[in-house]
Amino acid sequence: MITRVRRADPHHIPEEVLREASDVLRSGGLAAIPTETVYGLAASALDPQAVLKIYAAKQRPADNPLIVHVSSLEMARKYASSWPESAQRLADAFWPGPLTMILPKTEAIPPEVTCGGPSVALRFPSHPVARAVIAASGLPLAAPSANRSGSPSPTCAAHVLHDLDGAVDLIIDGGSCACGVESTVVTLCTTPPRLLRPGFVTVEDLRGVLGEVEVDPAIFHALKDGQPVASPGMKYRHYAPKARLTLLDGTLDACAAYVNARADLRPTVLCFDGEEGAFQTDALSYGREGDPESQAERLFGVLRTLDERGVTVAFARCPAREGVGMAVWNRV
Ligand code: TXA
Ligand code: MG
Repeated sequence: MITRVRRADPHHIPEEVLREASDVLRSGGLAAIPTETVYGLAASALDPQAVLKIYAAKQRPADNPLIVHVSSLEMARKYASSWPESAQRLADAFWPGPLTMILPKTEAIPPEVTCGGPSVALRFPSHPVARAVIAASGLPLAAPSANRSGSPSPTCAAHVLHDLDGAVDLIIDGGSCACGVESTVVTLCTTPPRLLRPGFVTVEDLRGVLGEVEVDPAIFHALKDGQPVASPGMKYRHYAPKARLTLLDGTLDACAAYVNARADLRPTVLCFDGEEGAFQTDALSYGREGDPESQAERLFGVLRTLDERGVTVAFARCPAREGVGMAVWNRV
């Protein structure tokens, strides 16, 4: 398969690009599209054969369900068999935007999308290109992140091309993604609602609208008791670079002393802006200290840089966990 790449300025989206994307999606093909979080690998959510192509292209495990992307509230409601007041309130507060809600599905959503499960993940993205492609095709789009399973989510078209060249019909290059980490996932199928994946819509934001919201313990499990942990591991393997990455919780001085004492491992350090000079090893900044939005935007790109450089041992400064920091910390 030849992968075509088309540019689309989000403020002036070319009609012919929308038409081409729409043709690909309506004929059962795959199109990678920019969203405000990360790039998505889209297919018609109503076409089981097209949905199966997503799993094949990404080499995604067959038991990991997909998010269905819509371009209006009416469209979302069509695919949820119940629409509780909590869903309406979240939609009013955060849609379009980086929030995914899990609700009971209707018959229209085939089991290939939900891996046979009774619920569907619904998201109404705010990115103009994503919205325009959904609206132009008239289809709800099943779209996981457009990376090969195992590598960090793609935050620009070059990342998608690197992972999926020859496996997808079309990539729409709409520039780099503003958030840089995937959407917040909250399930409304439990009482109280439960946060399954942290993102730019924070748990505080959700509680502000819903009252009580539980946080799934798996979000914090990998770093119980503040223990540094090597990243390549079961649950979070899909965010991992090839390097063995160890998270360091402590002051800059303590981290620098720890890393500099291990210079023989020739490690690369992921640090914050302006800290590079403290390390006697290669250092890459993944944002400003205390500014989780800047960290989220750069994290996945920096993890990919580790792979490009063939780094085998890496250490990372620990991000703060408050607000959007919970999302950054969870991915690291
Ligand atoms: O920001 C995003 O959400 C991006 C862009 C492309 O929209 N998409 C994305 O998709 O991150 P993906 O497939 O990489 O992550 C979807 C997550 C997975 O952790 C999956 O297990 C969960 O959502 N999920 C999907 N459907 C679910 C369901 N019915 N119940 C529980 N979890 C579900
Ligand atoms: Mg993903």
